[in-house]
Amino acid sequence: MTPRIALVTGGTGGIGTAIVKRLADLGHQVATNYRNEEKARAWQQQLKDQGYDITLVKGDVGSPEEAAALVREVESKLGPVDILVNNAGITRDTTFHKMTPVQWTEVINTNLNSVYNMTRPVIEGMRERKWGRVIQISSINGQKGQYGQANYAAAKAGMHGFTISLAQENARFGITVNTVSPGYIGTDMVMAVPEEVRNKIVAQIPTGRLGSPEEIAYAVAFFIPDEASWITGANLSANGGQYMGW
Ligand code: CAA
Repeated sequence: MTPRIALVTGGTGGIGTAIVKRLADLGHQVATNYRNEEKARAWQQQLKDQGYDITLVKGDVGSPEEAAALVREVESKLGPVDILVNNAGITRDTTFHKMTPVQWTEVINTNLNSVYNMTRPVIEGMRERKWGRVIQISSINGQKGQYGQANYAAAKAGMHGFTISLAQENARFGITVNTVSPGYIGTDMVMAVPEEVRNKIVAQIPTGRLGSPEEIAYAVAFFIPDEASWITGANLSANGGQYMGW
């Protein structure tokens, strides 16, 4: 595979770490952003011990200014970004009748506005170079909805609306834009769901288990090679069979 420069947002998280490693294993140069310096440096060292040299840049993807600055920093360190994986995301689960404006806004900002903030500074370069990959990490809950996640499901469904529009605008420029919709993966985010609730969810997964971050990283990598250039505007479900709709 041609080596490329990849920027994965939220790369220090559960799914993010697996994506970063997989892209590096495929020979790409990989960068990610962080907000918490101490946590990020410990993560970087841990990956270094495993043989990975990952570029870290500070910045909040929910801020247009910080997102633009972090893209500039990655480009000055590694070169133009060919692959953008919009992976950063948070939850603020609560039933809607109890949801505060902050719980709504934080999730929409970090999970959806970030997609604008990060993609906008890289898309023109991809169009000029006539090659690019933009991949959104959405969620099964953007496809089917979820009790307690009106904010999260709205943001995650919005990500795919973005994908299918951007895919149309950029298909002629060698850029593909796709979504991966993970189901319940064994990360800190899912383990934060109360055990009793989580057990009920796992019981609804036909494979009978949570997914692994590596299984999502595999789905992301699928969209990258030149052989995948006919695949754009797709939403790839990776959810153990829990939801088989669009
Ligand atoms: N459908 C119908 N009713 C439900 C329900 C469901 N799925 N879940 C809960 N209820 C009912 C309960 O049975 C309960 O009813 P009673 O009062 O009659 O007993 C009522 O709703 C209140 O439920 P809780 O006690 O759970 O309410 P709560 O306010 O304490 O918590 C909640 C609500 C925060 C939404 C909690 O249920 C929860 O955390 N749910 C899980 C949400 C979830 O799946 N989040 C995913 C996080 S991981 C992620 O987001 C990654 C990804 O992409 C998949």
